[in-house]
Amino acid sequence: NEIYLDGLSGVVPPFPMTYDDLEPLAQAAMPASVRSYVAGGAGDERTQRANVDAFERWGLVPRMLVGAKERDLSVDLFGMRLPAPLFMAPVGVIGLCAQDGHGDLAVARAAARTGVPMVASTLSVDPLEQVAAEFGDTPGLFQLYTPTDRGLAESLVHRAEQAGFQGIVVTLDTWITGWRPRDLATSNFPQLRGHCLANYTSDPVFRALLGGRSPEEDPQAAVALWAGVFGNPLTWDDLPWLRSITDLPLILKGLCHPEDVRRAKDAGVDGVYCSNHGGRQANGGLPALDALPGVVEAADGLPVLFDSGVRTGADVVKAVALGATAVGVGRPCAYGLAHGGEAGLVHVLRALLAETDLIMAVDGYPTLADLTPEALRRVL
Ligand code: FNR
Repeated sequence: NEIYLDGLSGVVPPFPMTYDDLEPLAQAAMPASVRSYVAGGAGDERTQRANVDAFERWGLVPRMLVGAKERDLSVDLFGMRLPAPLFMAPVGVIGLCAQDGHGDLAVARAAARTGVPMVASTLSVDPLEQVAAEFGDTPGLFQLYTPTDRGLAESLVHRAEQAGFQGIVVTLDTWITGWRPRDLATSNFPQLRGHCLANYTSDPVFRALLGGRSPEEDPQAAVALWAGVFGNPLTWDDLPWLRSITDLPLILKGLCHPEDVRRAKDAGVDGVYCSNHGGRQANGGLPALDALPGVVEAADGLPVLFDSGVRTGADVVKAVALGATAVGVGRPCAYGLAHGGEAGLVHVLRALLAETDLIMAVDGYPTLADLTPEALRRVL
């Protein structure tokens, strides 16, 4: 309505209205190194494209005479009341997408302005305490890349608790970086990551591991140490320890196989997060959306977060209909930020919220409970 009413006065929106229009503008605004990092995926990027294409294979069936004048998109997630089933997926290095290099703070402010929660990545330009301080009344989750040193992992988790984060998302699929030709071609990936170590370099345990040298005095030693703490493949044997170090909701990210979901549930996690990292880790994989129904069935009532390939409000509605409790967006946020800063990201989120709401209105599904697999038909 706001945009249509503005239009009556001759005012057109300052930012693109579709992802396809936004992407090239955002990419043009980014330094080449950041562009290849954000845009790139694994291998020839088939899985990355398949994530997006998978949504086309489902069509929503409209229902009439429902009277969907009032909609309720709100959802309860681990005790957090969200205005809609939408969240910002963790994007490491997103800080560098902003002109001033402090994009993590801008994302947190966009969360405060829209009510759409941020999952803050371990790989942040600014320390997690400063990010959380920008959340306002919107809850936030912290995403952990689990260091090999358990003391350091526990320190990061406890700092997140202290800072007011309301859940810990442990990413399982990226203990090692996938085969990403765009990053390999520019060879700048480690350098980019080197700008996003604030959560480590501000950490007392990390500083102790540095053996008295300060990260500021010896940045190369800090990066070398960080490279060593990264790269730890967790196993099922690590789960009891992870479960024991926090009372916050614990969510495992990267689960696509129903058997893994069942084991995670048995190990006492609070939620599972179905994702293939936006096709950035392994090429040749199943589109994440195709894994979702099996994950939901195995989760058997446990909340299921989902991301990978979500570009529109229709995609959000479809993922919810397939059983997702909440739906994440990664690249749309990075591009909104790169193109228009905090205002550009707020625009992307508001457009997604509005489109989601309008589809539910027009198609006659007034609440999330109405969105079941019955609302969808396979079209290809
Ligand atoms: C990511 N993603 C990610 N995931 C995570 O758990 N920790 C991280 O630090 C990052 N970093 C990251 C950087 C960039 C540039 C991108 C694009 C993605 C993965 C992210 O959380 C999410 O799974 C995907 O982005 C979802 O796919 P779409 O929405 O980008 O298609």
